[in-house]
Amino acid sequence: MHPSIADQATDQLGGPLSVLVRQKRDHVKLAALMERLRGTDGEVQARILLEIYRLVFPHAFAEESVLWPVMRRVLPDGDALTLQVEQEHQEVNGLVKTLDGLPAGSPGRAGVLARLTEVLDEDVRDEEDALFPRLQERISRRELQVLGVLWELVRRIAPTRAHPVVARRPPGNVVAALPLSALDRGRDLVDRALPGAPGRMAPVLHRIGSVLERTSNAVERLPVMRSGEDPSTRTSAGRHPVPWRKPPVKPDGKERP
Ligand SMILES: [Fe+2]
Ligand SMILES: [Fe+2]
Repeated sequence: MHPSIADQATDQLGGPLSVLVRQKRDHVKLAALMERLRGTDGEVQARILLEIYRLVFPHAFAEESVLWPVMRRVLPDGDALTLQVEQEHQEVNGLVKTLDGLPAGSPGRAGVLARLTEVLDEDVRDEEDALFPRLQERISRRELQVLGVLWELVRRIAPTRAHPVVARRPPGNVVAALPLSALDRGRDLVDRALPGAPGRMAPVLHRIGSVLERTSNAVERLPVMRSGEDPSTRTSAGRHPVPWRKPPVKPDGKERP
């Protein structure tokens, strides 16, 4: 099997257009943001979290709608492999929704935040060390480049916020993409305008923001948005240990069960 994509150079990964190069670039950005997040609180923490969400949600959405269907077609065990990362993405969506409801300083917030960074880290390791080297074995350099362009296109128009109710698989997530992306990006514009807005405009912006949020909540609950989902995606709390990942090591040097 190929080594982890973390240990391969751009040319080995298929050149600058390759989906593997683009994935690795985003994963490096995420690691830097998580490093900046460590030990922060209040406004600073909220700003870095927002940057993390804007990076990971479109990234994961494009994985679910472009890359995982290809993995399921080309690998005999593609279904089990992609189900594992879909469960991780689902847990991230749920944790972010929970975090949104926990104001700074509230009990439990630190634990949810710690779990969020842990799952994001696990997701990157699973993709770089197990899934992508397997994909590399099965598809050509040219196909990696075509997938790279497709993945990038979808990433640029994908939703930018947590949507735990929506399916992690097509067709549900594909149907959800356009309306949720428009609503999320509208809310992003409002959020960006709010800090510098004149006093009279602030209540108007807040009202627009909450209308967009309510519309988004209603849209994601349409039954069609759940179609294609594997029922076990939502049971991530009881996820089985994955065969390719080593158990984490405790401070005393023993492996955690
Ligand atoms: Fe990724
Ligand atoms: Fe991912």
